[in-house]
Amino acid sequence: MSQLAIARDLVKLGRIQEAAALMLTFARQVLELDCTEVKLTPDGYSLNSLNGILSLGTPFEGQTKLFFKYHQEEDESKGVAEYYNSKLLEDAGLPVDVPLAARHNPGEQILLYRVRTDPRLADVCRAIEHGQAAGFTAEETIQAQRDLDIAVGKKYLETLTTAPREKPAAEPLHQLFYLRLVDDPNADAPVSGGRLKSFYVGKDFAFPGLEKPLSWAELANLRWCINGVTYTHTLGELFAEAMVLLAPRELPDPCPVVLGHGDAHNANLWIERDSAGSARLAFFDPAFAGAALPALLAEIKPTFHNIFAHPDWLYHSSEVTQRYQTRAEVRDGVLHVHHDWKLNALRAEFLATKVTHVWKPLLAEIKAQGLLPADWERYIRLALFCCPTLVMNLRAGADRHNPVSSVVGLSIAMMCGSAGDTEDVMSQFIADITP
Ligand SMILES: Nc1ncnc2c1ncn2[C@@H]1O[C@H](COP(=O)(O)OP(=O)(O)O)[C@@H](O)[C@H]1O
Ligand SMILES: [Mg+2]
Repeated sequence: MSQLAIARDLVKLGRIQEAAALMLTFARQVLELDCTEVKLTPDGYSLNSLNGILSLGTPFEGQTKLFFKYHQEEDESKGVAEYYNSKLLEDAGLPVDVPLAARHNPGEQILLYRVRTDPRLADVCRAIEHGQAAGFTAEETIQAQRDLDIAVGKKYLETLTTAPREKPAAEPLHQLFYLRLVDDPNADAPVSGGRLKSFYVGKDFAFPGLEKPLSWAELANLRWCINGVTYTHTLGELFAEAMVLLAPRELPDPCPVVLGHGDAHNANLWIERDSAGSARLAFFDPAFAGAALPALLAEIKPTFHNIFAHPDWLYHSSEVTQRYQTRAEVRDGVLHVHHDWKLNALRAEFLATKVTHVWKPLLAEIKAQGLLPADWERYIRLALFCCPTLVMNLRAGADRHNPVSSVVGLSIAMMCGSAGDTEDVMSQFIADITP
C-alpha cells in the first residue's frame, strides 16, 4: 500500500494527526518540498479524495502554501487525468484552475494547486438559502451562473460533433453513472452491482410513517404516488432500465459528443470577483472532463446537483429532519408519499438559465443535425435519477441519511426517472427543453 493510500485510510478512521504526519514525510521525501506543516481538510462534499494544505519554508512556484489533492474513486484511482483535463478546458477557453505541478508515478499521484480562499458556489448558495451573509447577493450569484451557462452552452454548440461510439464510451464520466450500477461493465447481461448493490439491494428502508422498514424486494416493486402524482415506474424498473440505457455500449454510433467539465456541481465551482468587481465562476476538479462527452450526459451533473439536490436534503441531511414534513404509507400496493420539498427561488432561477442557455440550444442543435436519439428523454431522466441515488447512500441509517431525507431523496429521484400522470417540475423541465 502506498503512503498516500495509507494516509487516506487513516483519515477515514479519524486518525487525522497520523495521516498529516505521513503526508509531511511524503511531501519532504517524495515531493522534495521544504514542507513544514500539513493541514488536512476532510469535508462533506469530497467523498473520495484526500486534500489539504502544505506550508513551505522555501516557496515553490512563488507559493508559500500549496493545496494538494489526490483522488480515488472506489478502487479505481483516477490518478492525474485531472491535470490533462484542466489543460483541455483551459485550452478551450473555459475558466478553470490548472495545477501548478503534478506527480504521475503510480502510488504517488498527486496534484498541487495554488491555494484558493474564494468560497465555492455551493457554500454561497447555501448561505443565501439560509439568509446568512454570503459575500454575494442572490442576483449576483444567478448572473454568474447565467454567464457560465452561456459560455458552456456556446462551447457545447461549438464542439458538438459526432464520434465513433468507442470514443464517448471510453470517457471517465461514465464512472459517475453506469459504472456505479454494475460490477462488470463488460458483462453480456446487466447484473446489479457497484453502488446499486452495495447501497440498496437486499437492504431495509425506513420512511416516516411506516410501521416497519420496507425490504428492498418490497420497495423495488412498489409504484409511487408522490404528492398526488402517480409515477409510471418502480425503483426496480428505473435501475434496470438505467443499467441498459446508460451502458456506454448502448450509445448511438456515431454518437453526438461535446467538450465539457462533466462534473460541474456547485462544490466544484469557485465564485470570485473579476477586476471590475463582478461575480464570476471558475471550474475546478475536472477529473471527469473530456473532449468527447456523450452530448446528453455532459450537463446532467450540474443540472441535478446545483438545482434539485437543494436545499440541504442531499448534503446536509441531518438538518432537514425537522424542516421537511414527510409521510409515507403503503396502500393497495402503492407507496404514497407526501413531502413539502420544492425548488426555491434561487434554484428555480438556476434551472431557468440552464434551460435557456444550455439544454434548449444543445438539444435543438443535436436534433437539427439529425442526431437526437428517439429515447433521449429516457436517457436524460435516467441519468438524472442516478445522480442522487448513486452519489451517496440514500438509505436511512446507512451513511448520513435519515428517514426524512431518505424519502425526500428517493421521491425526487423517482420524479427524475419517471413521468407522472400530472405535471411536476421535472416534466416541466423536459417540456421546456424538448426541441
Ligand atoms: N486550490 C484550492 N485551494 C484551497 N482549497 C481547495 C482548492 N481546490 C480544492 N479545494 C478544496 O478541496 C475540496 C475538494 O477538492 P476537489 O478538487 O473538489 O476534490 P474532490 O475530488 O474531493 O471533489 C474543495 O471542495 C475545496 O474546498
Ligand atoms: Mg470536487
